[in-house]
Amino acid sequence: MVLQRHPNLWPPFTQMASAAAAQRVTAGDGALLLREEGAPLIDAISSWWVTLHGHANPVMAEAIADQARRLEQVIFADFTHEPAEQLAVRLSGITGLQRLFFSDNGSTAVEVAIKIACQWWANRGQPRHQIVAFDGAYHGDTFGAMAVGERNLFSAPFEDKLFPVARVPWPSTWWNDDDVDRKETAALQILEDTLQTPTAAVILEPLLQGAGGMTMVRPEFLREVERRTKAAGALLIADEVLTGFGRCGDWFASRRAGIRPDLMALSKGLTGGCLPMGVTMASEAVFEAFIGDDPNLTLWHGHSFTANPLGCAAANASLTLLEQNPTAFQNFEARHRPQLEALAQHPRVERPRLLGTVAAFDLVVGGTAGYLNPAGPTVKRIAMEHGVFLRPLGQVVYLLPPLCITDAQLEQCYEAIQTALDQL
Ligand SMILES: Cc1ncc(COP(=O)(O)O)c(C=O)c1O
Repeated sequence: MVLQRHPNLWPPFTQMASAAAAQRVTAGDGALLLREEGAPLIDAISSWWVTLHGHANPVMAEAIADQARRLEQVIFADFTHEPAEQLAVRLSGITGLQRLFFSDNGSTAVEVAIKIACQWWANRGQPRHQIVAFDGAYHGDTFGAMAVGERNLFSAPFEDKLFPVARVPWPSTWWNDDDVDRKETAALQILEDTLQTPTAAVILEPLLQGAGGMTMVRPEFLREVERRTKAAGALLIADEVLTGFGRCGDWFASRRAGIRPDLMALSKGLTGGCLPMGVTMASEAVFEAFIGDDPNLTLWHGHSFTANPLGCAAANASLTLLEQNPTAFQNFEARHRPQLEALAQHPRVERPRLLGTVAAFDLVVGGTAGYLNPAGPTVKRIAMEHGVFLRPLGQVVYLLPPLCITDAQLEQCYEAIQTALDQL
């Protein structure tokens, strides 16, 4: 199939000089993407980690259509509506954080969390400036989100525009890692030293750093991070844009790890992956510092599409689907495990790791580790020839399928990876 890149489109994360032609997708069906030409492909990464209940899910479609017939949008500074209120009550219940602030995507959900954290200190008359983040983090592509993320290829042209952030190592671990205790102890020592400087907030991706390479840490490490952060009086921000809504085998990674953040950024699976929406959840104690007669106390932040009713309707429908069948995410790890155990025997596989719906490993290949390692595109091409869409992060190969994927489809994903490894 030869398709030229479209002359009027500028796709994300794509070098147009060398990119392969994009294939046209005409429809989706559960875990499958149906192409204009070629056989259906299994969407093994949930289309950038968003699709939760499968493509073209009829329940989701009906909820959105029904809402569209009644109210598609209304200015949220002056009005409210039932889908937004319902969503706020439900998310407050399952996150334990009382206040919901809407935005449009994962990056803005993080931006809002950072702004709230900084202003919280200012509003209380004790401004604090230091933000602590972890090596390898990815929090989005807007300026604040870039600032707290790992500085790399993506952020290099803007380096002089990014505010300074204190960094702590991320003691990632995998099956049979015998060095994890030492890595955690070293990271916690650096965190403790860093927190000697008054700190506004510590931001992290709980249990799983996504774009940084699907790297995982132990729950006990996060509990120690939380303990030190709270002892230093700093706010804890959990970026659950990827890990939320069952991806990590529980409703939220924070919940699975047993930590209680003060602020939480959510997006991606929030609407079941059907519509763009972000939310920042905040504790009542955080919210209270924004209340008063002084206009300076106000959170002067907002987006045109705040609390878009279609997005809220999708989010409510998605929550209902998750509530009706929590075993779909609770049991996913057990579906991956035997297949990943078998794959881990392959000489090209190292550092196998698993969390909920996410199975990952590093390829044993030459070249510099990182996003530009050429092994990733090779695995991607071979898997695609076998009906599976993957998008490795450099030498890191991972599966992050929608909850609806069938056992046969999941097996096909592992077989396609096995074939790709054999051909490397
Ligand atoms: C943990 C995390 N935070 C934030 C973002 C940014 O979300 P968005 O792409 O919706 O702006 C991402 C996106 O992958 C993410 O994985």
